[in-house]
Amino acid sequence: MAGKMWAGRFTKEVDERVNDFNSSISFDARMYRYDIEGSIAHATMLGECGIIDIDESRKIIEGLKSILADIDSGKLQFDPTAEDVHMFVEAELTKRLGDTGKRLHTARSRNDQVALDVRMTLRAETKEIITLVKKLEKTILDIAEKNLTTVMPGYTHLQRAQPITFAHHLMAYANMLLRDISRLEDCFKRTNIMPLGSGALASTTYPINRQRVCDLLDFDEITQNSLDGVSDRDFCIELCSAISMLMMHLSRFSEEIILWCSWEFKFIELDDAYATGSSIMPQKKNPDVTELIRGKTGRVYGDLNTLLVMMKGLPLAYNKDMQEDKEAIFDAVDTVKLCLKTFDPMLATMKVIPENMRNAAAKGFINATDCADYLVKKGMPFRDAYKITGTLVHTCIEKGCTLETLPLEEYKKLTDNFGEDVYDAISLDTCVMQRKAAGGPAPESVKAQIEYVKERI
Ligand code: ARG
Repeated sequence: MAGKMWAGRFTKEVDERVNDFNSSISFDARMYRYDIEGSIAHATMLGECGIIDIDESRKIIEGLKSILADIDSGKLQFDPTAEDVHMFVEAELTKRLGDTGKRLHTARSRNDQVALDVRMTLRAETKEIITLVKKLEKTILDIAEKNLTTVMPGYTHLQRAQPITFAHHLMAYANMLLRDISRLEDCFKRTNIMPLGSGALASTTYPINRQRVCDLLDFDEITQNSLDGVSDRDFCIELCSAISMLMMHLSRFSEEIILWCSWEFKFIELDDAYATGSSIMPQKKNPDVTELIRGKTGRVYGDLNTLLVMMKGLPLAYNKDMQEDKEAIFDAVDTVKLCLKTFDPMLATMKVIPENMRNAAAKGFINATDCADYLVKKGMPFRDAYKITGTLVHTCIEKGCTLETLPLEEYKKLTDNFGEDVYDAISLDTCVMQRKAAGGPAPESVKAQIEYVKERI
């Protein structure tokens, strides 16, 4: 502790408990690559602007590169007693270069440095998450293409409602994920803004060139206000919010898979590699992956809440509370990546059981709307047609049959508008094929939906 960089003002050493409490190296060490890349850009600019000697700038850059290589190779280990990754790298540089190393932090504060590091880290993470979501999209499209005519019941209130196809159902998720990608891309734009040069809060008196650092680090633009530059964590919250929404979609999808693989539905069967057994019940095959995704969604919502509450009362500019941003956003990022990486192959290997979907669709009178529509097409007002069909369903329930097996005389008892062609009108295949409106379940319509998503990923 005697080695604290800010020790000059103090007459005592920091209490060990405070030192441990204060330290963030255990969770910010993962940003080392960006911390070093940021420092290399900063040192380059300092040298070019004549703020430090150009030779010293070169030595600093070489030193930083060697530190990066040594961390990468495992030769250099993080010191757990260091205050944070920034202090660790700077101390190591000074150990290697002596006084020259001490010049790196000219015209910079840890406040703008950490803002830079977090932005660079999340920029990379966001790209990775987008790639994973696109991969999942491709898996969904593959399964959808194979199931364009796989009839299944569509539900409202978890009650069989109208016939759709499995492809149509899957494409609902493909569209949700498309919006998730768009949210992530949008949030990327606001993350990709360069804060270095904001200093501690009031920029600097040195003649720095922020645009140069921005270009070197491949940012879109520089932050426009130094107070905002060091105290904004909107980009973390925005990413966490986009991830929360993505998790919500994965969780709903998971919930359906949990239902579908139950004996009550048996619409699908999970591959043995993506299910688990029970320690006591030999017959069990449990959908743990999907249950965990559903569970972890709550955890990510917790991260979002942590960030929102952490920020809401902070006066400008930097406050130490903000050090808490990293564990929350990194947890959200790690969790969603883990979920996507597991969910995708689980989905890809899952076996679809079309017969069971079709059998379920054949029960539950899900063609009742089509029966009413049949009468409307014969000239009857929809409300009357609706009532007659309701009566027919009632008759079927009493007789223990379906609309397809109910004799024509029963139909004719209610209205003469019914003819032999009613059976064709209410057949499951007709019900699906006729719903060719844009967005509907008819194979041609779902094909268009598949094309739409394909073009956008
Ligand atoms: N470890 C700190 C964080 O994550 C770095 C910034 C420290 N700044 C300060 N003024 N103490 O927020």
